[in-house]
Amino acid sequence: QVTPVILCGGSGTRLWPLSRSGFPKQFLALSCDDSSQSLFQQAVGRLNAIGSSQIQLGNTVVVTNEDHRFLVLDQLRELANIQATLLLEPVGRNTAPALTLAALYAGEQAEVDPILVITPADQTIQNADAFTKALQGCIHVVASDPSKHTIAILGITPTAPETGYGYIKKTGSQGSYGEFTVEQFAEKPDAKTAQTYLDSDHYFWNSGMFVLRASTWLASLKEFRSDIFAATETALVASTTDQAGGVEFVRPDKAAFNPIPSESIDYAVIEKCPSSNKFTVKMVELNAGWNDLGAWDAVWQVGKKDDNGNVTSGDTLLSNSSNSLVHASTRLVSAVGVENLIIIETADAVLVADRKNSQDVKHIVNQLEAQK
Ligand code: GDD
Ligand code: MG
Repeated sequence: QVTPVILCGGSGTRLWPLSRSGFPKQFLALSCDDSSQSLFQQAVGRLNAIGSSQIQLGNTVVVTNEDHRFLVLDQLRELANIQATLLLEPVGRNTAPALTLAALYAGEQAEVDPILVITPADQTIQNADAFTKALQGCIHVVASDPSKHTIAILGITPTAPETGYGYIKKTGSQGSYGEFTVEQFAEKPDAKTAQTYLDSDHYFWNSGMFVLRASTWLASLKEFRSDIFAATETALVASTTDQAGGVEFVRPDKAAFNPIPSESIDYAVIEKCPSSNKFTVKMVELNAGWNDLGAWDAVWQVGKKDDNGNVTSGDTLLSNSSNSLVHASTRLVSAVGVENLIIIETADAVLVADRKNSQDVKHIVNQLEAQK
């Protein structure tokens, strides 16, 4: 059995002021593509389309923050035929504890050790068929390994020396499901190292989407971060459950969850696997117009551009302006003679930024947090 797992408890601070703590970016329908669905809804739909005669999908497991439960519930309702369980974190402890909750929970529910297909909720993918095929390849790679030691990742051909991604180095020849062996995994390298990876033909970006058995995640976490495993298990054992609108809410114990160390899947486990003799990492290339909408510049890049390279949404008027992203939420926004700008208007906050500095929007959010 294959269990879709959606991790959507992040805060998305670099897309401020549209992305807010009460309404983070994964729940926004960013009008940069043709879809009126939020990034979260797109992720759920995409994953639920990979079922086949050989791949039987179980309930979707959504791991998110307690504060966003109704947002998730409403957005799930808009999608037809999705059976889901919500695992609600009292506080964000990054993705390693989130996946551990999902692996423990899914393992308890299924009769056999389920294969988990994990996806973040902050990405867009243009070619759904290519996505389905690549992900099914990952599932076959994992399903065909009886030793249960394989982690299969979707890799993306890099186009820039991005420092916000993990890099995967492939080796050897291609297997029958399109997979390569991963020799090295480097999470968020510095700019200089990222450039050397880009210059080599052997490195791919980690898409953040991967496939493994629930027992494989738990065994690898026990191996490399037994502290996170033990603390998360304690919090889940003491969880409470209730139902809302036919959907189950599972709440790990708050007091036990709080002290869990905050760490990502990538740093806690995946980086350490290629050089271990217990776990094998494989990569299947995803060539499907993948984009992680990490910051406003990425939203501009995937957006539909007019003749001057501008991406606009809402009530906007531009003159002699180019290569800018302009969004109006509540009133007319106009710009004259500007280029390479990000202008985001909302009812109570306006952002103006140079496109090349769009990663630094998080500093504004940090300053706002500090003033609270
Ligand atoms: N439930 C839960 N709890 N989800 C979380 C939490 C948490 O505490 N923190 C983050 N998430 C969710 C986010 O909402 C997002 O959908 C996903 O987990 C990934 O987290 P990010 O914070 O966006 O990670 P990243 O973008 O810095 O890096 C990851 O993704 C890159 C590709 O987009 C890594 O896996 C990189 O290696 C990868 O290249
Ligand atoms: Mg991300």
